[in-house]
Amino acid sequence: KANPDFDLSQPIPSDIGGMRASLASYGDPHFSLFLRKVFIKGLGFTEEALSKPIIGIINTFSAFNPCHANAPQLVEACKRGILAAGGLPMEFPTISIHESFSSPTSMYLRNLMAMDTEEMIRGQPVDAVIAIGGCDKTVPAQLMGAISANKPFMPLITGPMMPGSVKGVRVGACTDCRNNWAKYRAGEIDLEDIMAVNEELAPTGGTCGVMGTASTMACIVAGLGLTDLRSGATAAAVSSARLRVAAHTGSAAVSMLSKHKSGTSMTPQSILTRESFINAITVLQAIGGSTNAVVHLMAIINRHPDPAVHSITLNDIDEIGRRTPLLVDLKPSGDGYMTDFHNAGGMLALLHTLRPSGILHEQAPTYTGQTLGEMLDATPFKSFPYSAQIIRPVNDPLYPASSLCVLRGNLAPDGCVTKASASKDRRLLKHTGPACVFANSKDLAERIDDPDLDVSKDSVLILQGIGPIGNPGMPEAGLIPIPRKLGAQGVGDMLRISDGRMSGTAGGTVVLHISPESADPDSIFGIVRDGDVVSIDVEARSLNVDISEEEIRKRVANRKQGLAGNGEMGRKDASGSEDEKSRNGRETAWSDRTTMRGYRGLYERHVNQAHLGCDFDFLMHSGPGTGGA
Ligand code: FES
Ligand code: MG
Repeated sequence: KANPDFDLSQPIPSDIGGMRASLASYGDPHFSLFLRKVFIKGLGFTEEALSKPIIGIINTFSAFNPCHANAPQLVEACKRGILAAGGLPMEFPTISIHESFSSPTSMYLRNLMAMDTEEMIRGQPVDAVIAIGGCDKTVPAQLMGAISANKPFMPLITGPMMPGSVKGVRVGACTDCRNNWAKYRAGEIDLEDIMAVNEELAPTGGTCGVMGTASTMACIVAGLGLTDLRSGATAAAVSSARLRVAAHTGSAAVSMLSKHKSGTSMTPQSILTRESFINAITVLQAIGGSTNAVVHLMAIINRHPDPAVHSITLNDIDEIGRRTPLLVDLKPSGDGYMTDFHNAGGMLALLHTLRPSGILHEQAPTYTGQTLGEMLDATPFKSFPYSAQIIRPVNDPLYPASSLCVLRGNLAPDGCVTKASASKDRRLLKHTGPACVFANSKDLAERIDDPDLDVSKDSVLILQGIGPIGNPGMPEAGLIPIPRKLGAQGVGDMLRISDGRMSGTAGGTVVLHISPESADPDSIFGIVRDGDVVSIDVEARSLNVDISEEEIRKRVANRKQGLAGNGEMGRKDASGSEDEKSRNGRETAWSDRTTMRGYRGLYERHVNQAHLGCDFDFLMHSGPGTGGA
């Protein structure tokens, strides 16, 4: 029987099979399809298989990524779902990023992964794509890339790890990593104890088991209507429920594609509306989510071409927080682990709990083709006593509102973020004290435990130089350690401020993501010195340093003069002491940015500030002509 695809007298039918997509490579579409079929048959595929809709599966397994250790099983389960629903699964890799094994930081590589994801979705003959992600930066990178590529898309979360146990006490990465290390540093536990803790903090594969960035992003995916509400965000990585989520995602992607082909656009740009993102931010506040998720959400939102979506700003995050109680009792804001949240009913239970207060936009679309409200109607949830312990009722929240707050003031004209609910000493949420300033992470490491450091419990610890450009990738160094001499006196929390990030699993009174960052020549945050008086008032959403306008102008001008004089931002502060000169500035000259090679050069020249999401300026607002299907 003649193969109609090779009949030169007939145009190539543009039916569902992705093999027929974008056949322009050789200027001869028949020859392009002919060649494509040569190589896919080389892999053992039959002509019959090639007539099916092609569902790509992005496999982010890596020996360096324990958070994605279950990716091979998820791929298998996902394939079963796709095949059973009549699709053809095609697995392919992209970059995989793990928090602990990425240098200088995972955040530095997030945009690279987003570009990889976008171009692989766009460039390969897939009709729809499922992306396996879990570890902190991976889900944001995949959502950013998927929105820009704009083919039908479903995230498949790898799922949280199980908690471990030490002497009968549950432990989990990585809130308990930090708590226990702090106890060890303070001499409260001994070497034997810390060794035992080290064995148990990550007892299975999967993402960190508390409400850190990975769990937060997983819950946000559910809030965006992109995964199964009952289990998609919370089922443990090693559970059979997680495998069933994978199988379901496979079949759901096939149905999503068939709706798309019959005229209802199911691309990320269509499914993700302003309302979807408002719901996602509501979820972020209700779960006491990670501060990092604020940066990621802004980057994802700013990928969207619709001004109704990308006009969402940090102000919306703050405003939604004011009407959203923190309900989910997980570390670091509360006590539980992700497995508790799952056993309590997961995101389905949370959304049903939030529903009566009217703060959800129920008309937001979802991957099912139903609205969020219709999905909730179709999957009722009946609360039970254990569930209400982990997912508190709206009238008895863990924290009344504004778990994450956005502050502004002369220290952060474009905004900064604090997780008020994770503050350990809530008196510090309204506080005035003298600055104790560190110019960068190296300076901090050298001096923080110096017995002669001029610091008291009322001091405000300030760490400069760890912003998106100042220390490429904006490291999670914002949880400045309590100086050892104060720790020994029992000081457990201090007001700490930086232009960097903090792990979503950490707690304390910590202000992050100061924008613009200190490396910006005009930044006031960059000219703060020891002894300047800093005031925070979280209730009033303000953060200021008490320096006169004239003094600010003088210091900024001096700093710029120093910059012009030696081409190195801040390394020699013209107004500073010798001591300041030697400890101020980046490891590489600021002026090197313009000629720096490779990805580092691309990053430094194009990364935008934290309040916009630290994406590359040329990737924002995916414009017309850049979409896929
Ligand atoms: Fe991957 Fe925490 S290290 S989620
Ligand atoms: Mg993290």
